[in-house]
Amino acid sequence: MSCEQLLQEIRLNGTVPRHVAVIMDGNGRWARERGQPREFGHRAGMQAVRQAVEAAGDAGVEVLTLYAFSQENWGRPATEISALMGLLELYVRRERRDLKEKGIEVHCIGELDRLGPRTRAAIQSIVDHTRGGARMRLNLAISYGARQEIVLAARKLAERVAAGTLLPGEIDEELFSQQLYTPRDPDPDLLIRTSGEQRISNFMLWQLAYTELYVTPVLWPDFGREHFFRALLDYQRRERRFGRVLAS
Ligand code: FPP
Repeated sequence: MSCEQLLQEIRLNGTVPRHVAVIMDGNGRWARERGQPREFGHRAGMQAVRQAVEAAGDAGVEVLTLYAFSQENWGRPATEISALMGLLELYVRRERRDLKEKGIEVHCIGELDRLGPRTRAAIQSIVDHTRGGARMRLNLAISYGARQEIVLAARKLAERVAAGTLLPGEIDEELFSQQLYTPRDPDPDLLIRTSGEQRISNFMLWQLAYTELYVTPVLWPDFGREHFFRALLDYQRRERRFGRVLAS
């Protein structure tokens, strides 16, 4: 079946996930299989990002969140970190205009203060340039860690309690969610993880509570438009119950 036939089927099925989150994994293995340095895999991974963004937009996904750099990734060799930051900056330069034209609004989530000034400036420019895009929101998780996101949310609420503007009893799930990095987004309906690892890796721990998981052995640089559509079709075949039983 061609990509366009898959897309047609997705549209006929009706229930497109509103929010898709992706753990892009396997760039290093992809490069090793080709006898190349890890950076080579990340560069190919950037092309796959382009395809995923386009596919998500075409399918009518409202929010796409991509895990581009975790807090744990700061522990990688300096050369790899600097290659990844360089790629992010390249991505911004290459894609900014196209994303704006397509109505895709970019947000960045994570501890952005840890990034160097050039990377921060690039991020600011893509955010400013694409602001107001109404077709889809693209969240890039950079220097992101979910436990830290939750700690920061707790701290914000504690400060309000200490200041006397909030009662502990007023804290509920809704208010807590509003303190996270994604206050405007619905929780992800679907999480895609490439390269076969069956882990969450400190990604959106709060938001993924009821998310459907899709793990594929395909390495991220090979994960193209067709794979994205197949993941959406797989999701559409599932029955989501959120812990309840379905009325018969
Ligand atoms: C995981 O592969 C991937 C990353 C740590 C980085 C993801 C980055 C990109 C896809 C490119 C740049 C991103 C943007 C948004 C332009 P890995 O290195 O852990 O692979 P391995 O598990 O096979 O070693």
